[in-house]
Amino acid sequence: NEASEAGLFKARLAAEQGLARFAEGLDTPVLLYNGGNPVIEAHEGDRIEISFKNGIPGQPTTVHWHGMPVPADQDGNPMEPVASGSEHIYAFDLPAGSAASYWFHPHPHGLTAEQVYRGLAGIFLVKPKDDPIPTEYGDTVLMFTDLRLAEDGSMPESNMIDLMNGRVGDHVLVNGQKNPVLAVAKGEKRRLRLFNATNARFLRLTFENADMMLVGTDGGLIEAPVGVGEFLLAPAERVELIVSFDKPGAAKLTTLDYERGWMGPGKPEEAGMTLLTANVSEVAAPSVPPLPAKLRTIEPLAAPAVTRRFALTESMGGMEMKFLINGASFDMNRVDEVSKVGQVELWEIANQADMDHPFHVHGTQFQVVERVKDGAVAKPPYRAWKDTVNVAAGETVRILLRQDLPGQRMYHCHILEHEDLGMMGTIDVE
Ligand code: C2O
Ligand code: CU
Ligand code: CU
Repeated sequence: NEASEAGLFKARLAAEQGLARFAEGLDTPVLLYNGGNPVIEAHEGDRIEISFKNGIPGQPTTVHWHGMPVPADQDGNPMEPVASGSEHIYAFDLPAGSAASYWFHPHPHGLTAEQVYRGLAGIFLVKPKDDPIPTEYGDTVLMFTDLRLAEDGSMPESNMIDLMNGRVGDHVLVNGQKNPVLAVAKGEKRRLRLFNATNARFLRLTFENADMMLVGTDGGLIEAPVGVGEFLLAPAERVELIVSFDKPGAAKLTTLDYERGWMGPGKPEEAGMTLLTANVSEVAAPSVPPLPAKLRTIEPLAAPAVTRRFALTESMGGMEMKFLINGASFDMNRVDEVSKVGQVELWEIANQADMDHPFHVHGTQFQVVERVKDGAVAKPPYRAWKDTVNVAAGETVRILLRQDLPGQRMYHCHILEHEDLGMMGTIDVE
């Protein structure tokens, strides 16, 4: 990345074919952004200009800035593909209050799932002017991806089970590595940003032998730290944690079992995987400032002018598998909903299918109001900005949102195979 002058952030991004080595002596053909999974780091108030080159042979792509408040025509929507071999400049401003852990990935309709599992995903950190989290905690990015390798080292094509459930790999990687080791001193606190960049794996996570404070979600910091013992990170979700390593020995980030409504054979092993090991030394860390009790103010969204209802369903007619929103499959020449800039809306997302669907909206951050399942209503324990929310099978989730910029925005299931198979719609904000 080249930051040329104060406030203007310019970078080049290329999607290309390459080789990666995941297993001894085997080369795996992959797709990469700038040779890996880059981390772009910019600041609130910056003007961003990213010149992008699609070097993927034979396939269009786009770069979608997941969760970011960018103009609709700069957001890498499926309606704006960048042809193989072409270049495109994405330009946008980062407004005040936009500091958060975002990510970016391709969004060409019908090819999103494949391009992401082949390796295309990157991180976009927007830093605030004044960060309430002490710098002594560092800032560590943990991006989860999901790898499946054939005997010859290649990535197998997706099968019917993958299309139905979303493709789940055999190895969860953290920043491209299996179970990497973090060296920490006793008493150290670390700021960890976790990104679920897998196509379809639900990560219910805990930290053994360390204490976790949740400090942020998809759309940045929450109002005050919340102690958590475990949490669910559905596909595309992010959290920020402050982890305290107070006991010497090994602290492990591990997976717990999660029932996401698997269909058919081959239910993947979910529980008991160690994703990251922190080796905590006997030597005590120098003392660091405490975590502030107050991180931010989040004004509640209120008084919705309209209510929209979205029913998520599946239909499995013979070989034809369809994932639908309000009975319709995605059509990029159709506008499904029409809205107004600045209007607060209540969205009611009802999952009438047999498996979980993580629901995502482009261009904005929303607030979860409540979840209803089997007549039981659950309110979120803290206020937070989110761009993706898991809607469990049989559950209804109500969210409040507002689009501050005009244009066409997508909303969809973030199991990328479901998105490609039609579980996506378009809202035109006028
Ligand atoms: Cu992260 Cu429309 O996607
Ligand atoms: Cu998105
Ligand atoms: Cu889905």
